[in-house]
Amino acid sequence: MRLSVISPTLNEAKNVPLLVEQIGRALRGIDHEILIVDDNSADLTWSVAKELSATNPRVRILRRMENPGLGAAVIDGFDAATGDAVACIDADLQHDPSILSHMLEELQNGADVVVGSRHVDGGSTGNWNISRRFQSWIATKTAQLLLGVRLKDPMSGYFLVRRKDFSEIKPDLDGKGFKILLEIVAHLHTTKIKEVPYTFRPRAHGESKLSGKVILQYFHQIWRLCSSSRHFTVRFIKSAIVGGIGLFINLGVMAIFLKSTSILDWRASAIASLAANLQNYVLYNVWTYVAGFHTGFRKLDGYLSYLLMSASGMVVSTIAYSVFAGAFLHVPLMQQSPQAFYGRLFCQFVAVLLGIRFNYALNRVFNWPDLALLHLEAPPKVPILR
Ligand code: GDD
Ligand code: MN
Repeated sequence: MRLSVISPTLNEAKNVPLLVEQIGRALRGIDHEILIVDDNSADLTWSVAKELSATNPRVRILRRMENPGLGAAVIDGFDAATGDAVACIDADLQHDPSILSHMLEELQNGADVVVGSRHVDGGSTGNWNISRRFQSWIATKTAQLLLGVRLKDPMSGYFLVRRKDFSEIKPDLDGKGFKILLEIVAHLHTTKIKEVPYTFRPRAHGESKLSGKVILQYFHQIWRLCSSSRHFTVRFIKSAIVGGIGLFINLGVMAIFLKSTSILDWRASAIASLAANLQNYVLYNVWTYVAGFHTGFRKLDGYLSYLLMSASGMVVSTIAYSVFAGAFLHVPLMQQSPQAFYGRLFCQFVAVLLGIRFNYALNRVFNWPDLALLHLEAPPKVPILR
């Protein structure tokens, strides 16, 4: 399998000779080429690479004059590559070239994407300070949660794919992001991803191009990938809004009970939850899942099924409320004090969160596709409202 190693560069003149040397050593005996994709660097990186290519036939240069940017450079590099496999590696030697042959083996053993990873056993971020670690953790968690990527190091800029896979998804790739790996993983729809550990090294020469703008671009990229993937649709946001309104109504009804009636126990909690539940159903029905709108009798039927499905969560929250209120507010003095009102309301708040969490866990266990969708006719495959 012929390997093309693509290295995007912007002002890396001092690093390129070291990089070429280290890649050559790491890939001894393996058919490969090294493609330096330079955005017409002011420090003449492209010219340094050109000199190297005069004595080293494995080195090629792509000097880009327009559409600058890391993501776009990598896409162009992969496109110009001649290998069966294409790898992307930073030029500043922060990515350890010595794992390249191992990465290639993993691809040959059946992986579709192989990632150089700092967050699997044996890998590390080197001597990063706590703030840099925290930033990276936030960025990583965001990608994992919102995109559902099963990568320990989705932020990696060091990875390997088959060129034919890349060519297939190329029309869908957006080169604006710094994180081209995320872009590729989001479009490739494969579970055959392998992470190979390495230790992130300090930059050899020069400085990082990671700026505030790049970070903004990153979150924009996540947002774009999210809204086009199945994991996160407009419907999801709408469901979250409906749930939020439900919580508000729940606490509102509870407050009315506590203020103007003498019912302060589990019954108040249960009625508040029932009211919120009815509201949820109505809003789900008319707003969130318009295509499955229930009419006439079906409405009652649909409501009863929805009620049944949420019943366990409501039972949990009602019991939890009784327990909390009993435990914290049993002091007679408290019962008369103005704090008792807020105390009870807070107990209800926590109890409701517990109930929601319980219902959610139950749904996952039974693998119900979606709490509300289950009982609506012809659920839309694609969200109708945008
Ligand atoms: N052609 C081109 N055009 N190359 C660029 C550009 C550009 O606009 N911007 C950066 N590069 C090149 C750099 O020259 C370097 O080789 C590589 O892309 C990474 O840029 P750095 O500035 O060193 O980024 P970093 O070290 O902060 O972050 C890198 O490592 C992280 C950890 O793997 C990036 O690869 C991140 O994507 C990655 O998360
Ligand atoms: Mn770097």
